[in-house]
Amino acid sequence: MNNAGLGLYIHLPFCRSKCVYCDFVSFARRSDSEVEEYVEYLLKEIELYREVLSTGVSTLYIGGGTPSLLPLKFLDRIFKALERYLGNVSEMTIEVNPDSFSSEMASHYRELGINRLSMGLQSADDTVLKKSGRLYDFETFLRKYDLAKRFFDNVNVDFIIGLPGESWYTIEANIVFISDFKPDHVSVYMLETHEEAPHHQVLKKPDDQTFMRYEELIKFLKSAGYERYEISNFALEGKYCKHNLKYWFNEDYIGIGVSAGGHIGWLRYNNYEELNDYFIALSEGRFPRSYESENTPHREALETLFMALRTKWGISPEKVLERTGVDVSEVYKRLQAKFDFFDGEKLSETGMDFSNLFFVNLLETWESVFGYA
Ligand SMILES: C[S@@+](CC[C@H](N)C(=O)[O-])C[C@H]1O[C@@H](n2cnc3c(N)ncnc32)[C@H](O)[C@@H]1O
Ligand code: SF4
Repeated sequence: MNNAGLGLYIHLPFCRSKCVYCDFVSFARRSDSEVEEYVEYLLKEIELYREVLSTGVSTLYIGGGTPSLLPLKFLDRIFKALERYLGNVSEMTIEVNPDSFSSEMASHYRELGINRLSMGLQSADDTVLKKSGRLYDFETFLRKYDLAKRFFDNVNVDFIIGLPGESWYTIEANIVFISDFKPDHVSVYMLETHEEAPHHQVLKKPDDQTFMRYEELIKFLKSAGYERYEISNFALEGKYCKHNLKYWFNEDYIGIGVSAGGHIGWLRYNNYEELNDYFIALSEGRFPRSYESENTPHREALETLFMALRTKWGISPEKVLERTGVDVSEVYKRLQAKFDFFDGEKLSETGMDFSNLFFVNLLETWESVFGYA
């Protein structure tokens, strides 16, 4: 077990309605009793992890879905079950949607010890918000952002580039918001289009214009003092997301709830995506996992490369050898010969912009050196 402290992710899959682009495991909420039932099962899953959790949680991330839709009495139950494991926690994040976030919640979250909020704005352009099925306008977001900042000094704002209705005006509006309000942390994702998204036919695959707009926003963020510490993540004053750093450095974390995944020691697992499968497994006292496997050293090393090379720090071949016993220096040497933007440890800023190309090559190079992982 890797002992930098355990990360704990809790997935709350309920939303008011489904946004057109979303293929995360989330369901339109039908009733409070459905949510209550889910929470009861979450508690059973927490109980199954009591031994690992007793080693101490250092970061907690409550994501979704829409965690701000969870009635506070249910959130209290989850915190009660976790209380004894949270003694040394340094970061607790909850995702909130602008349309379902209130001052009562903000104050309650703070009382529970939550110290970081992640707000899904996606776009400061009302045309885009409307066409994407978001349930608020930019004006409403601004009121909720102001509320968030009154209670929390660490707030992230998420953006997606490539949504329906986007234009150069959208980028300008995003830039004006960021320069006026300077959120502590910004995530910028390029739209991913998967056939499972509910209305994927209204989504266009990103084209050259979309990439140019993405580049423009990234260029602005850098000029405004944001540190691009991971391909899609930007922080002011070193306010990195500590929980996500655990993912990127392939450390130990547990995921609880439908579709959540974890990595404990070299065990990699994923939970069921269907509520029913999740409930059945837990009723039978089993971990609700659709996949679990102890990584081979090569698998562990490959995963480590794939995650750590997304960050500005990267990872040296010596470190990979120390952690997994696998010597990746030949893979690094070949990649370095091919890409100027890879210095044998990390990607440069340009490398981050070409990360898709790099990671495809990483996999091919890996296979030619080691065969399949
Ligand atoms: C798991 S979602 C949940 C956040 C929250 N429910 C919301 O809607 O704001 C976390 C983030 O993933 C990003 N995201 C969701 N779907 C995406 C997609 N198809 N492509 C790129 N990013 C996406 C959004 O920026 C979103 O804020
Ligand atoms: S983007 Fe967020 S609010 Fe929209 S469906 Fe997905 S999880 Fe729910």
